[in-house]
Amino acid sequence: MKEKFEFNYELLSDWTALPNEEHILVEQAFSAMKNAYAPYSEFKVGACALMDDGSFILGNNQENAAFPSGICAERVALFYAGANFPNKKVLTLCIVAKGDLMPASQLLSPCGGCRQVMLESENRQKQHIRIILVNQDNRTMVLDSVIQLLPFGFGRIG
Ligand code: THU
Repeated sequence: MKEKFEFNYELLSDWTALPNEEHILVEQAFSAMKNAYAPYSEFKVGACALMDDGSFILGNNQENAAFPSGICAERVALFYAGANFPNKKVLTLCIVAKGDLMPASQLLSPCGGCRQVMLESENRQKQHIRIILVNQDNRTMVLDSVIQLLPFGFGRIG
């Protein structure tokens, strides 16, 4: 039997088209990006998580001369949230990036490992996380849940 997996997402030509209250979240992600340590790829990524108490948790990619020891921006933010505020929920996660690794027109999309970590956060808190992906050309994709980035993901709910 053939089944279908469908979802809707929003595509905006510029992140400033997001609701005003979300502008600060994007700005925080850009400010996190400035502190990325990415001397090897020269691809700087910033992440900002809006928590359910209104606070922000920032992350950026941290690279290492032993390449696999580095870690992505999303994971820095989500693991920091889990380590320090295990009872707070992530409402929204915004990701931004800058660098020549990919053309500016290419849609910024989290790596597979980060998708798995994002899914765990969503499952753990039993609440969907809104995802805002801001491209280098400012085009912005908005998703309602991590499941849209990782359908049929591995893990348990609860
Ligand atoms: N990177 C992230 O921070 N997030 C992703 O989702 C994809 C890739 C980082 C890892 C590495 O430091 C650099 O971007 C180039 O891959």
